[in-house]
Amino acid sequence: MSKLQEHRDNHHEFREGETLELISGKDPIALFRAWYEEISEEEEPEPNAFVLGTTDANNQSNSRIVYLKDYLDDAFVFYTNYHSDKGMQIENNNRVSMLFFWRNSLRQVHIHGRCSKIPEAMSDAYFSSRPRSSKIGAWASDQSSVLDTRADLDDRIEHFEGKYPDEVPRPPHWGGYKIVPHRFEFWQGRPSRLHDRLVFERTDENTWKSHRKHP
Ligand SMILES: Cc1cc2nc3c(=O)[nH]c(=O)nc-3n(C[C@H](O)[C@H](O)[C@H](O)COP(=O)(O)O)c2cc1C
Repeated sequence: MSKLQEHRDNHHEFREGETLELISGKDPIALFRAWYEEISEEEEPEPNAFVLGTTDANNQSNSRIVYLKDYLDDAFVFYTNYHSDKGMQIENNNRVSMLFFWRNSLRQVHIHGRCSKIPEAMSDAYFSSRPRSSKIGAWASDQSSVLDTRADLDDRIEHFEGKYPDEVPRPPHWGGYKIVPHRFEFWQGRPSRLHDRLVFERTDENTWKSHRKHP
């Protein structure tokens, strides 16, 4: 039997989850945090990895995993190369999506938001906390551009190691983005595929309206 067939035939039964009815009155950012804090305790591997969805100039959707590094009062923060494909796509269209999947708790959170660069001082602070090798990597990797050979990357690392023998400054093209959410969908796995889906949409700065969706 192929692996795919094995997986297809595995009719996983979802366990009883907390019903979202009880929490529909909540602010979705608070709910996200509550879920996040619970999940970290359960030692979900890489709970801060999420799928970032962007759209390019041809309306082609694009996805890749990035790490959530911070949540501000009203925004989620990740770090990357501003010249990367995702950086260009965000320049083109700042409406992005975020998708978290937390396997052990059978939860999925799908977020829509608007993405913009964080203040430089905040990127500086985070960059300075990173290990030296990551800092050199941020200079050496021209993320998403064509790399002819792996040796070329090694040469670039050597070059920047020599250029910055002590302190490594933050490259101007490397830093954080924040995503200010305007829509959340919380998905909780429940038995017999009768999952809970609860959507929150922002109506103004501090107000959200919510509705349920068929699973
Ligand atoms: C678990 C995991 C975490 C990642 N975290 C980041 C991240 O925080 N920032 C980042 O730029 N790339 C991260 N990547 C790499 C991205 O998925 C992607 O390959 C890279 O950012 C280039 O994407 P782009 O060409 O669409 O811009 C991560 C990949 C994985 C698998």
